[in-house]
Amino acid sequence: MPTIAIDGPGGAGKSTIAKLLAADLGLEYIDTGAMYRAIGLKTSKCGVDPADAGSLQAMLDGTDIDFIDGKIYLDGEDVSGQIRTPEMSMMASKVSAVPAVRKKLVALQRQMGKNKDVIMDGRDIGTNVLTDAPVKIFLSASPEVRAKRRYDELIAKGESVEYEDVLREMIERDHQDMTRETDPLRKADDAVEIDTSDMTIDEVVDAIKSIVSSTK
Ligand code: DC
Repeated sequence: MPTIAIDGPGGAGKSTIAKLLAADLGLEYIDTGAMYRAIGLKTSKCGVDPADAGSLQAMLDGTDIDFIDGKIYLDGEDVSGQIRTPEMSMMASKVSAVPAVRKKLVALQRQMGKNKDVIMDGRDIGTNVLTDAPVKIFLSASPEVRAKRRYDELIAKGESVEYEDVLREMIERDHQDMTRETDPLRKADDAVEIDTSDMTIDEVVDAIKSIVSSTK
């Protein structure tokens, strides 16, 4: 199986699709957004200001991130639930703009993708982390559709949120992710773009599976 790189903005369906493809194709799934969320969580728990380069570097040097059975561990603690909040989405976007954070996580991601076939999703996988990936997908959808998906997910988890707030935060986060200096969110020149706005999950999975088949 070829390594698959999936990029796109929040709510485009990346992790849902990547998990299904991983199970179907026998690839290991690596959720790089979860890694930035874990760093965001640690920064806020430790009260470290991301703008304070010295404190941030010291924190990063003492940080361990690992995936075990689909769960993300931060310094040995399973933080898979704690990182899935609107606050941590914003924190992740903020710390992901700091070059020292990207340097550490990109090195870890390249290590994870070495010597095995993986499906990795994020913002800079096709453009920076796994530039040689034979299959590169850029998933997109309108901001309204993406915000509605995120809103439904949060409501299903019992959180009380307003659709308008979710939409506003999503647009703000996209802007941050696309305009940062280091490895901004961008479609790789050799990526295939799929607009998932009017597609079901199964349709997107099938579309990517046919791209994979034609690549082999
Ligand atoms: O995919 P996600 O919503 O869990 O990602 C959270 C944030 O992390 C996102 O707003 C930008 C950042 N991120 C990144 O900069 N590079 C990646 N490869 C993955 C995520």
